[in-house]
Amino acid sequence: MLNASFRLDPAFTIAPVSRRTFGSFVEHMGRCVYTGIYEPSHPTADADGFRQDVLALTRELGVSVVRYPGGNFVSGYRWEDGIGPVADRPVRRDLAWHSLETNEVGIEEFMRWAGKAGVEVMYALNLGTRGVSEALDVQEYLNHPDRTRLAELRRANGADKPYGITMFCLGNELDGPWQTGHKTAHEYGRLAAETARALRAAEPWLELIAVGSSSSSMPTFASWESEVLELTYDQVDYISAHAYYEPFDGDIASFLASAVDMDHFVNSVVATADSVGAKLKSAKRLKISFDEWNVWYQKRFQATQETEWQVAPPVIEDVYNVADAVVVGSLLISLLRHSDRVTAACQAQLVNVIAPIRTEPGGPAWRQTIFHPFAITSRLAKGDVLRVEPASPLYATDRYGDVPVVDAVATHDPESGDVTVFVVNRSQDSAASLVVPLAGFDRGLQVAETWTLHDDDLEAVNTAAEPERVVPHALGDVTVSDGELRATLAPVSWSAIRLTAAG
Ligand code: AHR
Repeated sequence: MLNASFRLDPAFTIAPVSRRTFGSFVEHMGRCVYTGIYEPSHPTADADGFRQDVLALTRELGVSVVRYPGGNFVSGYRWEDGIGPVADRPVRRDLAWHSLETNEVGIEEFMRWAGKAGVEVMYALNLGTRGVSEALDVQEYLNHPDRTRLAELRRANGADKPYGITMFCLGNELDGPWQTGHKTAHEYGRLAAETARALRAAEPWLELIAVGSSSSSMPTFASWESEVLELTYDQVDYISAHAYYEPFDGDIASFLASAVDMDHFVNSVVATADSVGAKLKSAKRLKISFDEWNVWYQKRFQATQETEWQVAPPVIEDVYNVADAVVVGSLLISLLRHSDRVTAACQAQLVNVIAPIRTEPGGPAWRQTIFHPFAITSRLAKGDVLRVEPASPLYATDRYGDVPVVDAVATHDPESGDVTVFVVNRSQDSAASLVVPLAGFDRGLQVAETWTLHDDDLEAVNTAAEPERVVPHALGDVTVSDGELRATLAPVSWSAIRLTAAG
């Protein structure tokens, strides 16, 4: 048995929990939209063609904000193809995913879906093949109240009131040579600055996200951020970050420590952004929108790329196992830990495409293993994020050196008094005994609910035939006594423990 410990004190806060940390992503890619959120012939479809089984799971997942409509897709997208009578909408090639886009779902449909799901929309602009003028047009269509040509067009299309989008992504992954309209940092930075300036001339309150590196392993990582931010610093609020993790050559020990890389990535982006701020003598501090993150088995994808032009072909429909879910839980711990700078994050994606929700066309929808840590963290992380310094044994990894076996974060809701600990045990062979002194809390605390995700079979998955093979269970052996929380964490497990005021 390993021993791990950390102190909890309500005085040591990092930042308030940002609800936008629990964002997701719907891209016109594979079966995320068509036969994912939208399938008019499905038995659960509502009058608008949306699958109500998927809507119910989206609400249960606790998603706050959804990035739309891409991803790589957006860099060749013409937003006006997706408005007005559906019969008049063109079918187009989607060069990003080599498929056909029917445009049956566009702004009107997606905004209706978002209303039903109860989520905010983070709208991504095409700065790949398009520029300032088209960004202004879609902003006018989405947000201008009335009298102008595009506001009246929206009203004629059935949306009397403006949609009031606040967050706009100024493009997607334009540092990547795979991106349609790929740019140098200078080309992109100038375009993003001018687009931002123009959008803000109409709506100064917008929250704008400049494109950061598409991964920290890009050769241009950090110099891209630096050059882009020197050109955009005053015009934007966020710089984006994207990261996907997978095991390499069966190295589960390193895979389980993926959050170490995410921590390092966030710290590096913060350092780069702050150095630009210092150079510009600006007191402003940029935030990070971690608007694509997840486990993604990219190696499998590279081996199976489609070549036919199809509508909504199945693409990167990864089936997630127990180890993947533990990693997703630990990535959420990392995101929460950085809540002072990471105030928006989108798990990529929502349905079918590397997603917590899976569907079969005409058939069931179910929760993948990674659904559970997301849903529980979104539901229980409330109030302030507390600073936690776990004292834990280390283990050796090939990719990240020596890393702590146990990692954790906690939240404290001053209103209800609830304290929730989110903790991961990355050891593959030892349980961990956790002791958490609660000295700083003057109200007595008792255990309210506990959840753990663990299975002796790390490769266990949920499927249409067995959708509840992997589900969270109550964590046995959790006590609060003599001012200490004590718990035993199984090997390769993610757990959440909510404490509430006693009596
Ligand atoms: O989420 C899948 C793809 O990953 C997105 O389209 C792109 O932005 C990223 O490379």
